[in-house]
Amino acid sequence: MRSTIRFLLGHELEEVSNCGPTDTVLDYLRNIKGMTGSKEGCAEGDCGACTVVVVESDGQSLSYKALNSCILFLPALDGKQLITVEHLASDDGGLHPVQQAMVEEHGSQCGFCTPGFVMSLFAACHQQTHKPPDRQEIDQVLAGNLCRCTGYAPIIKAAGRILANPIDDRFTEQQSANLETLNALQSEDFLGLQNDHGQFFAPRSLPQMLELMGQYPGATLLGGATDAGLWVTKQLKSLPTIIHTGRVMELRQVTRDELNGFLEIGAAVTYSEALPWLSREFPQLSEMLARLGALQVRNAGTIGGNIANGSPIGDMPPALIALGSTLILASPAGERAIALEDFYVEYGKQDLQPGECVARVSIPLPGEDQLFATYKVSKRFEQDISALCAAFAVQIKNGVVTSARVCFGGMAGIPARAGSCEQSLTGQPWTMDTIQQAMQALAADYQPIDDMRASAAYRQRAARNLLLRFYLENSAAKVPVRLSLRQVSESGSTA
Ligand code: FES
Ligand code: FES
Repeated sequence: MRSTIRFLLGHELEEVSNCGPTDTVLDYLRNIKGMTGSKEGCAEGDCGACTVVVVESDGQSLSYKALNSCILFLPALDGKQLITVEHLASDDGGLHPVQQAMVEEHGSQCGFCTPGFVMSLFAACHQQTHKPPDRQEIDQVLAGNLCRCTGYAPIIKAAGRILANPIDDRFTEQQSANLETLNALQSEDFLGLQNDHGQFFAPRSLPQMLELMGQYPGATLLGGATDAGLWVTKQLKSLPTIIHTGRVMELRQVTRDELNGFLEIGAAVTYSEALPWLSREFPQLSEMLARLGALQVRNAGTIGGNIANGSPIGDMPPALIALGSTLILASPAGERAIALEDFYVEYGKQDLQPGECVARVSIPLPGEDQLFATYKVSKRFEQDISALCAAFAVQIKNGVVTSARVCFGGMAGIPARAGSCEQSLTGQPWTMDTIQQAMQALAADYQPIDDMRASAAYRQRAARNLLLRFYLENSAAKVPVRLSLRQVSESGSTA
């Protein structure tokens, strides 16, 4: 076990041994290193003022990810490279091409938001596929950076210009040297950090992780910290023992099993990593995945974390439940598989035994004749928490519904299937009459709450209308019922 975090800060090796388990990267930069370019706006992963870029090696190549440093715990940087806005200009003070484009397009705004915009664009330059991005792609890159006062048009122009061509900067020049250095930082031993504030473990394998969970039964299992980060920055909780899932090899795998017909996603796979797999199998999920959080959030958040924390308004569980997913839980006694819906017992309570963890989720590949869709209703299009989330998976043979799985988030204390609605659909012809019956049946399935996101009456009505929309989008008439992302962007409601 190693008790020192090692990472590259810019191009310099940084070694930290006296660090609390929940010390954030932002505090480290600003308070310890005196690097104040990254700003604190919201301290909850919403505004992007604190955006930094973290570079990881998979042994062969480097990936550049924009992350919110306000909710990123410093020990999670072990073995990676951290690039901040201070590292972009050249040694003689010359601006980086991203900064230059921002200046020339008049995209430079106040000192709070501009560094974050620049870092998101910097990450995108190094991740782009070298084809000029369309407006929708630019919106995706910038969705996690909020400006509270002026406008986005010049920034979008700067983005279009800078992302149109392959980037040529000193980071590309030093790519192979960086890859070599980051590979050399990877070690077989795992990080086990301790100081007066607590301890942080980053096991490399599932058996190591399960052993640590046995040793420290009260430990917090930490994925991307998109939720746990807020427990620290907003609720001022202390998390004295953390076991980080992000380095556990078995939890980082994605497997597509054609023969048995499922896609398995490890609990520590991030949304960004899972997205190409999921949208290939389930293109209907693409919009949901793009709206599930901004890029900074998707680069950190894990599907396993989203499932395990049991939130009634998590965006993925309704879709996964409607698709008939199975959850695989691991413990020293072996593995246990349960239907995902059975994992959620009641608000705040999951079917997770002491010493057990979420290992992976297994999603059946879509069958022929399956209609599937998922919908998110939130006040803002991007980067917002859902008022409700709906997912419908319906099998139709010869015009008759042979099976129906309907699941909503935000309608009950847990993501829950709509039994009465499903019953009223099954065995019936796929017609407007059937849908109207099923819409009525939904009233018996949920008693939603009133809260700041939506009233109970709104939720009931929206749930019924989403079922209608699902039907209209999947009936012979194929009635168009939604704006495209492009139309939404052009109507100005984005960001
Ligand atoms: Fe707002 Fe970090 S300070 S996302
Ligand atoms: Fe920086 Fe609006 S927040 S200009």
